Amino acid sequence: MNQLIKNNLLGIKELSLQEIDLIFETADYFKDVINRSIKRVPSLRDITIANIFFENSTRTKLSFELAEKRLSADVINFSSSSSSVKKGETLIDTVNNILSMKVDMIVIRHSSPGAPHFLAKHIDSKIVNAGDGTHEHPTQALLDAYSIRERLGYIEGKKVVIIGDILHSRVAISNIFALQKLGAEVMVCGPATLIPKYIRTLGVKVELDIKKALNWCDAANILRIQLERQRMPYFPSLREYTLYYGVNEEIVKELDKEIIILHPGPINRGIEITSRVADADNALILDQVENGVAIRMAVLYLLASK
Ligand code: CP
Repeated sequence: MNQLIKNNLLGIKELSLQEIDLIFETADYFKDVINRSIKRVPSLRDITIANIFFENSTRTKLSFELAEKRLSADVINFSSSSSSVKKGETLIDTVNNILSMKVDMIVIRHSSPGAPHFLAKHIDSKIVNAGDGTHEHPTQALLDAYSIRERLGYIEGKKVVIIGDILHSRVAISNIFALQKLGAEVMVCGPATLIPKYIRTLGVKVELDIKKALNWCDAANILRIQLERQRMPYFPSLREYTLYYGVNEEIVKELDKEIIILHPGPINRGIEITSRVADADNALILDQVENGVAIRMAVLYLLASK
């Protein structure tokens, strides 16, 4: 396989294992490029990409923008807080206006699950989902899996636990799809109120005891508590969450084996992860950010080449 099947990247659910392998292979090449003294290639020289973000972002927005610039694309950035969306313009009208400026590709983050899928049905442009509400965050899952593969050598047969606010996490859902396609065993761990009932139907294990979960896994992906999406209290206090589900150096030291630690960011030090765990050699958090640029270059390049 040397190209992606679809014109869009809306979710991991729709990707085949062969497509994920192709993205990883292409990212290997671009990772070499971004570590050279000349970090730019002319691959997308005549392509214009609009990054339209309706939700806050640091990593994903900057990573896409850098990936686009490293590929020599023309880039425009749209932020809903300073746009005419505030004057009542609809999503479709906003995007159609942007496309009228001869834009070739849209990277979209939106708080509504399915917003990129809705756009894909109604507009004539290539679309990349940069996170849609609680649904999917495909490039995050790709860079997480790529980072695990890079550190552990391979993914097939590895055990990965995702810890935290699974109920509100698009990262968890996309990670489950990606890791399972790559042959990993996946477990989720957190307070019962933050684990959706349907999750077992995806073929993942559920564990409420964090020590058991950490002892089971080769890699732990720790998520933040998404207070901005929670419409009711799911646990008594953040202090209590930290007491029962925070990953600290004592728990990690007590394990029978060394595990690797991932976190998609933003991290809340002292809540779901302590600084000592986040900054340790077995934590891949900044490797994930570096790999994010290579993964996004690969996705944009492969979509543009179609
Ligand atoms: N991981 C992630 O999506 O981070 P941002 O919200 O900062 O983009």
